[in-house]
Amino acid sequence: MSLFETRLKEAAERVNAALDGLLPREQGSEARLMSAMRYSALDGGKRLRPFFTLEAGRLFDADETYLLRTGVALECVHTYSLIHDDLPCMDDDDLRRGRPTLHKAFDEATAVLAGDALLTFAFEVLADPATHSDPQMRCKLIAGLAKASGAVGMVAGQAADMAGEDIGSDLIAVTRMNRLKTGALINFAVDAGALIGCCSEAERTALNRYAHDIGLTFQMVDDLLDAEGVVRDTGKAVGKDKDRGKVNFVTVMGVEATRERVGMLADQAKRHLAMFGPRARVLVEAVDFVVERRF
Ligand code: IPE
Ligand code: IPE
Ligand code: MG
Ligand code: MG
Ligand code: MG
Repeated sequence: MSLFETRLKEAAERVNAALDGLLPREQGSEARLMSAMRYSALDGGKRLRPFFTLEAGRLFDADETYLLRTGVALECVHTYSLIHDDLPCMDDDDLRRGRPTLHKAFDEATAVLAGDALLTFAFEVLADPATHSDPQMRCKLIAGLAKASGAVGMVAGQAADMAGEDIGSDLIAVTRMNRLKTGALINFAVDAGALIGCCSEAERTALNRYAHDIGLTFQMVDDLLDAEGVVRDTGKAVGKDKDRGKVNFVTVMGVEATRERVGMLADQAKRHLAMFGPRARVLVEAVDFVVERRF
């Protein structure tokens, strides 16, 4: 196992345990809602976003509990975004992480509500003094996650995605959409580690550039997996973006040109880490994972 694989596995285990402990239990009159939240949040995603928060913060010896709780909040927002993304009114998908999507396993109303509850729960976690002893830092994290998630972040990107060809099918429009719908949360993941680590402005800028490139790369590879992946690996439907009239790098540029661009962005992402030297080894290896992943 590479150092990256070990660290990602370790991050996933810690995130799963923390989520299990923090999420409301299935009890009382709303047990079905709690059960739906748990079904989606605890069903084994890669946990890449919390991994980024942990690893960026570790560069500056940041407090691991602070990093983990922030990563957990982020994963709640990410999970909500997937639940809503899969709804019939959006991508209308039946399979997620190798299991029926939430609205299939439960029902649409429960999926909408579980998504809503996970989104707001994320901010409850961030606002808790256990997430950081300094209230100003907690406010920065809350504001950062809110901005990355909302109408100038992930939700804006999802709106652009749903607009399909209306956003135009040029590379500028597609890049903007990817930067918003997927890049914004990945950017926050890295930036939260930098913030909690109280690093210098130069270090934060370098990390943000890295995050920008890896976020874009991540969605481009997701689009490649839709075009070329297999359900057994991805755990979600493949070959649907084209039929649905989605505008993305692959539908606009084709597989080869997308792959080439992925390679360029990946190299660029690694170069942004040069100032950290061998300390950033795991973040460098993460770039290769994002490029080569099959799931
Ligand atoms: C899937 O994200 C949705 C995109 C933003 C492309 P991930 O591939 O990180 O999903 P999980 O959390 O590992 O299932
Ligand atoms: C990213 O796009 C989704 C979110 C930002 C939630 P996709 O719609 O391509 O993600 P998948 O392929 O369903 O995971
Ligand atoms: Mg989508
Ligand atoms: Mg989708
Ligand atoms: Mg996709």
